[in-house]
Amino acid sequence: MAVNQGEQVKSLQAMTQLTDVDEQLLQRDADVFFHQTLSTPVFNTISKAEGTCIYDGSGKRYLDLHGNGVHTVGYNHPKVVQALKHQLDVALSFAPRRFTNEPSVKLAERLVNAAPEGLSRVLFCPGGSEAIEMAVMLAKHHTSRYKTLSYEGTFHGAGFQAVSLGADPHFRDGLGPMMPGAMHLPLPDYYRNPWQSSDQADIDDRYLAQLKQRLLEEPEVAALVTEPIFYNSTVPTAYYWQEVRKLCDEHGVLLIFDEIYTAFGRTGKMFASEHFVTPDILVVGKGFGGGVVPYAGIIGREELNTLQQQSIGHYTHEKSPFCAAAAQAVLQVVEEEDLVERAELMGAYFKEGLFALQHKFELIGNVTGLGLNLGVDLVKNRETKERAIDEAHQLMAYCFERGVSFKLIQQNILNLKPALIISKEEIDFILNTLEDGLKHIQQA
Ligand SMILES: Cc1ncc(COP(=O)(O)O)c(C=O)c1O
Repeated sequence: MAVNQGEQVKSLQAMTQLTDVDEQLLQRDADVFFHQTLSTPVFNTISKAEGTCIYDGSGKRYLDLHGNGVHTVGYNHPKVVQALKHQLDVALSFAPRRFTNEPSVKLAERLVNAAPEGLSRVLFCPGGSEAIEMAVMLAKHHTSRYKTLSYEGTFHGAGFQAVSLGADPHFRDGLGPMMPGAMHLPLPDYYRNPWQSSDQADIDDRYLAQLKQRLLEEPEVAALVTEPIFYNSTVPTAYYWQEVRKLCDEHGVLLIFDEIYTAFGRTGKMFASEHFVTPDILVVGKGFGGGVVPYAGIIGREELNTLQQQSIGHYTHEKSPFCAAAAQAVLQVVEEEDLVERAELMGAYFKEGLFALQHKFELIGNVTGLGLNLGVDLVKNRETKERAIDEAHQLMAYCFERGVSFKLIQQNILNLKPALIISKEEIDFILNTLEDGLKHIQQA
């Protein structure tokens, strides 16, 4: 996840007008929080998050295409808010361990019903990183193996085990040995790959050969942990995942899909797995809590329900009726508002618009993604595919000033992931703003 938050913050800071009150809040933030890269320094304040938008301290509105991935059903969705208020009104907002409760059980049942066929057991926890933790520990117990495979540069959470899966130096450097047995493979990439190939089947086979080789060399692998659609919006082929699934089965390795970003409709299916294959364990988070409460979990195969003497998710808020109420409302909204279908349709419309821009502007080297999970790769030169880092920062800042907020991935890929309730008019506004920005950069 090659990120340079410092540069992104500088570009956006230049476009932000802060009031004295904002300046003071930024200073108080800097004075009281531990500093850490990617989180500090902040460049603006937020006063409201509603629907598809966020509002800064001065009330300026931004269409939010980032939202840390929690804004699946939109911010502050009335049904989510109502469900939470109800849970407080009936005075059941917490369940001590060993007491079950209706909202938690109902949520679990509802999630199992919505999940891909064959996934029938769940466990909840406060956040995505912990859910990854549970998935990996379950795989280790089940296989009696301790190694993991994951892809270089990915992000699966901020906890130690999740960081070990990720391999980003920002999180690992200086900590000494990471989780024993955490091994990494190059992240499949159709656009830039070591073989300069543009033949998807050929690229798939080469990456699959690397996986196969590693599995032959390493008999102790418990799980392959990966997102089904990568963070840079690269969409592996169904063939790739089918072959991965076969290799995992042949080698007794569990396949864990981290759907913390992609679940609940974002890619035009309820779960991104449905485009490809069913994993052994599917991990959800982020939008699960409706963008209001932190909540996450795992959904796994029945055969994995074998632990009697070990614990993999002993979390205080494991069966929180409050969080469960929010998550249930999310599932209800996704269903009632047809957000899965909407993401598919709006995503196709958005992507078509991006392709049209690619046609007009040499700067756009590649458009990728599925549903409302899109990436636009800016290049200095379509032949060399050299990343257009300065231009990407300029475009991001240009759009931000005009009320469209997104982040960059690998410094040059526009990461476009709006709330699934986004309208056609809002997509048009984003496309027009991008077009104006690209013209502006071209002229300069
Ligand atoms: C793909 C993916 N997995 C896991 C996580 C970790 O989730 P959390 O921040 O809730 O721990 C994230 C968060 O950004 C993520 O994007």
